[in-house]
Amino acid sequence: MNNMKYDFDKIIDRRGMDSAAIDGIGKKLWGVSPEIARPGFSEIPMWVADMNFETSPSVTRALEKRIRHPLYGYFLPSDEYYDSIIHWQSIQHGYKDLTPEVIGYENGVHGCIMTCLNTLTEPGDAVLLHSPAYLGFLSDLKSTGREAVLSPLRKDENGVWRMDYEDMEKKLKDYHVRLVILCSPHNPSGRVWERWELEKALAIFRDNDCTVISDEIWSDIVFEGYKHIPTSMISEDSKNRTVSLYAPSKTFNLAGLIGSYHIIFNPLLREKIRRHGERTQYNEMNVLSMHALIGAYEDEGREWLGELLTVLNRNCQYAVNYINDNFEGCSVSMPEATYMLFMDCSGFLKERNMTLDDFLKAGWDIGVKYQDGRAFAWQDAVRINTALPESLLKEALERLSKYVFS
Ligand SMILES: Cc1ncc(COP(=O)(O)O)c(C=O)c1O
Repeated sequence: MNNMKYDFDKIIDRRGMDSAAIDGIGKKLWGVSPEIARPGFSEIPMWVADMNFETSPSVTRALEKRIRHPLYGYFLPSDEYYDSIIHWQSIQHGYKDLTPEVIGYENGVHGCIMTCLNTLTEPGDAVLLHSPAYLGFLSDLKSTGREAVLSPLRKDENGVWRMDYEDMEKKLKDYHVRLVILCSPHNPSGRVWERWELEKALAIFRDNDCTVISDEIWSDIVFEGYKHIPTSMISEDSKNRTVSLYAPSKTFNLAGLIGSYHIIFNPLLREKIRRHGERTQYNEMNVLSMHALIGAYEDEGREWLGELLTVLNRNCQYAVNYINDNFEGCSVSMPEATYMLFMDCSGFLKERNMTLDDFLKAGWDIGVKYQDGRAFAWQDAVRINTALPESLLKEALERLSKYVFS
């Protein structure tokens, strides 16, 4: 794209370079891997939630600086680590009262979700979440023997995914739920919850005495015109019942480095989660991931993110228009955040008398590696990752048009 300081057009060959999105094709990875393409078609990764872009140069610089000091002994998280998070969160989301005390390292957002499940619930307990549901939540619940109680989001007359408050309230009561996983912004619908939506949801969680895991990992990838509001900022009550989860990994493409963190204001809740984390010997920071976060959260990281958002917004808009104009029987709403599209293909499947498996295979055969919507507890849908150079995104849509929708 013209007038850009950073290059989001470069096509990078990720084969054999530590990329699940490429190396995992045709393997049994997470039970959701796409199959290998037919000969003659290159693979276009549109499933795993990472980006086909290089990270901010500020990350690379921070890592390079650290590896020029080639000693990697035991270490303590530095003041700079906490200062970086406090500064970033105050500018990005308006946090005013963060101190190092309320911030804690987590070995992935999943690490903390597992800790919350293990400390705040018992096997067999029900946990409420919205569907379509990020597949990682479902597998965390399954592997800890907790019951997922799904409250489906519904599209309103303008195609905006909304929570169904009546359904949530009824299910909280019927299943005696005490723990909720709220995804904000929401993957895979791409919603950025408005203040009134969060207020209404939090009032229901308060009335039913639920602790809230607020997964805000996508909160930096929010498009112009929308504003992420941290769950803990809705009220004094929400501040006390929320475990907020963040990471630079989605924003800066750092998932392979691992390095998420929690913000927990309630001292009792924090103590419980911390003690569990400390008992599991794997919840330890990696020195390189600490420096990567510090580099990401520099001013240059924010500048890079600004350009990234322009690119992602443009890609999502292009794909949404293309799908709604060209793929008969399919529909998709423009996301307000994330780089994911959740495409309904029920009309197309019905018209062609096709199963979703047929449809998935038809795309995978021609190298379009979109993801099975059933992994998100939703029927007749696919999730499409648009964080690709524009030329690859266009290529994928044109292939679908030519070989699947013709
Ligand atoms: C909503 C959500 N939470 C968590 C994760 C993964 O987080 P982590 O890699 O920190 O465990 C993802 C990755 O796609 C996600 O979409």
